[in-house]
Amino acid sequence: MPTIKNRVGVIGSINTDIVCQTNKLPEVGETVMGETFNIMFGGKGANEAVAAARVGASVNLLGCVGDDMFSRNAIANLQLEGVHITAVKQLKNVKGGIANIVVSNRNNQIIVIPGANGMVDTKYVKKYANRLKECSIVGGQFEIPLDSLLLASRICKENNIKFVLNPSPIKEYPKELFENATYVIVNELELKEIPGYNEKQPYALLENHPNKIILTKGSEGAYFHDGEKLVNVPAAKVKVLDTTGAGDTFLGTFMVAINSGLSMLDSITFANICAGLKTQKLGAQTGMPKLEEVKKYIKKNKVKLELNF
Ligand code: RIB
Repeated sequence: MPTIKNRVGVIGSINTDIVCQTNKLPEVGETVMGETFNIMFGGKGANEAVAAARVGASVNLLGCVGDDMFSRNAIANLQLEGVHITAVKQLKNVKGGIANIVVSNRNNQIIVIPGANGMVDTKYVKKYANRLKECSIVGGQFEIPLDSLLLASRICKENNIKFVLNPSPIKEYPKELFENATYVIVNELELKEIPGYNEKQPYALLENHPNKIILTKGSEGAYFHDGEKLVNVPAAKVKVLDTTGAGDTFLGTFMVAINSGLSMLDSITFANICAGLKTQKLGAQTGMPKLEEVKKYIKKNKVKLELNF
């Protein structure tokens, strides 16, 4: 088992994904026959934590679940994955988060019912601040209340902890959250919500925030500005089945790589491979690779990447 000394933190949602796979999406008022149905583990926060743990990181997860069967299973899954859950609070008489997911032609549509995730309030963040302070890098997204995430980002800033923001699902958010982030990982839609976005020069934002904004573009790979030039990091060569959780895999594994001292380019290359490998299987967490699988891919495809973990 590899050892990555510095602990990774995630504050975010823990969901159960109700996944229907269909070749044809229904029109409004139409019923169609689908292909498969699965109940799977998900939630952007839990996904990021599991992605980081699978490649060998020690991970603290902060978030809330309910007292229903789905929540109990989610906790058991996180324990099995080796994620530290001492800060995961189980709330009484509350349901855990649910995501209703339709996978069709390699893409997905998701409706999230936050449940307990909506109760990750600032009081909770204050209570478990020490679990954040144990980490040297912390990731967060938008399936918990924004004021709580903002507080977590402040705690990180004040304590010299790198904060990685994925502003998803897309919504307006305070500028301070962007400013507090060390890295901001966005897709094309999320890029538009960053202060200073200019439709005529979408990549100018990356240049204005070198080594901070990472733009992920699926099969086109990822982009960042290294201070001198715009860099495109190619996507992994894989046969895509389901993109659900690919962004979460990217963030979780990017944190591990950058935290271990790899360069921006190498960390993004690593995260791209991990996210690509994930898309080969159905479900957010099922396809998340273990470190050995990533190393196999690197060797087989002769990728120029040397890992230090
Ligand atoms: O990013 C994918 C995740 O979004 C799913 O696992 C679902 O739970 C939603 O939170």
